[in-house]
Amino acid sequence: MLVLGIETTCDETAAAVVERSGEGPGKILSNVVFSQVSEHAAFGGVVPEIAARAHVDALDHIVTKALADASLTVRDIDGVAAAAGPGLIGGVIVGLTTAKAIAMVENKPLMAVNHLEAHALTARLVAGIPFPYCLFLASGGHTQIVAVRGIGDYTLLGTTQDDAIGEAFDKTAKLLGLGYPGGPQVEKEATRGNATRFALPRPMHGRAEPDFSLSGLKTALRLEAQKIAPLNDQDVVDLCASFQQAVVELIQDRLRAGMKLFRARYGVPTALVAAGGVAANEAIRKVLQRVAFEGGVKLVVPPGELCTDNGAMIAWAGAERLALGLTDPLDFAPRARWPLDEVAGPQTKPARVAQQGA
Ligand code: KG4
Ligand code: ZN
Repeated sequence: MLVLGIETTCDETAAAVVERSGEGPGKILSNVVFSQVSEHAAFGGVVPEIAARAHVDALDHIVTKALADASLTVRDIDGVAAAAGPGLIGGVIVGLTTAKAIAMVENKPLMAVNHLEAHALTARLVAGIPFPYCLFLASGGHTQIVAVRGIGDYTLLGTTQDDAIGEAFDKTAKLLGLGYPGGPQVEKEATRGNATRFALPRPMHGRAEPDFSLSGLKTALRLEAQKIAPLNDQDVVDLCASFQQAVVELIQDRLRAGMKLFRARYGVPTALVAAGGVAANEAIRKVLQRVAFEGGVKLVVPPGELCTDNGAMIAWAGAERLALGLTDPLDFAPRARWPLDEVAGPQTKPARVAQQGA
């Protein structure tokens, strides 16, 4: 089964073709990502209107390249998937409308994919792991611990009460004048810094419910920086290292709580799975490894380019849904907000199941 996937929810314009042949890992035939970072850099963050226009300019070319790289034409694919949310609505409209046009003209099934679901299922694309698994999803907009028990069967175990972890990295970078996107910059600077120089808080530490809070940490960092301003190079790298260390310890504690809750409710997970841009961070990968080891489960972290936004994850989620007959109508509305636990699965399509049983 060959599926074309389109991703335009934030600042990457991406398209890919993925092949799924039964259970087990999939095959990425092409994966084209055009990052708009340079267009937003001057503003210190993503400007929604600029993003939407840049998607319009780039997407046709990116889709053409994805098909060419896979040595396929649009007639060869079995379905087309697009991220239909959550995200910046202008960009979502561009990607979903393009997918609908292809689906209509070529008479192919459409899969309107939830962007978070695509992050959640990437571990199955790369490693073919069975359900149920414990997902740690950390990106610029989301920080969640999720019980993934099937396609469309996602239970939120914990989430952030304020900022997302990626957002905290981005704000730290902005505060320290490191540019956008912040995560990779802060990680790079942190490798040269002293992680014990600044005593920063670990909010929510020790609580039984696996939720996160980042805003206290962000404020504490700003106050420390103000105390010693103007900052020299050593101050910046020490602040980065201290911040990253606090985040690492926070993730360790919160994920331990999350794994405990998962076991109590659902038994032993098949794996601890990480997804989203933050999982590209090496120090964070190490602590995930530790938590998985303690819990006696394997850790699955997709390679960095599949943790950040890409078309392959959308194509794969589309292929998983198509395999179950979960296609969407051409009037499916784009969604700015679309929580993962509101994604429909086979169990929420009673009409079809009832007909089959009858
Ligand atoms: O999943 P993603 O590409 O886009 C969203 O859906 O948000 O995640 C982007 C986020 C940004 O906040 C970025 O700063 C963060 O992931 N990020 C990182 C690293 N690489 C990306 N955070 C920490 N360390 C990294 N190496
Ligand atoms: Zn994402």
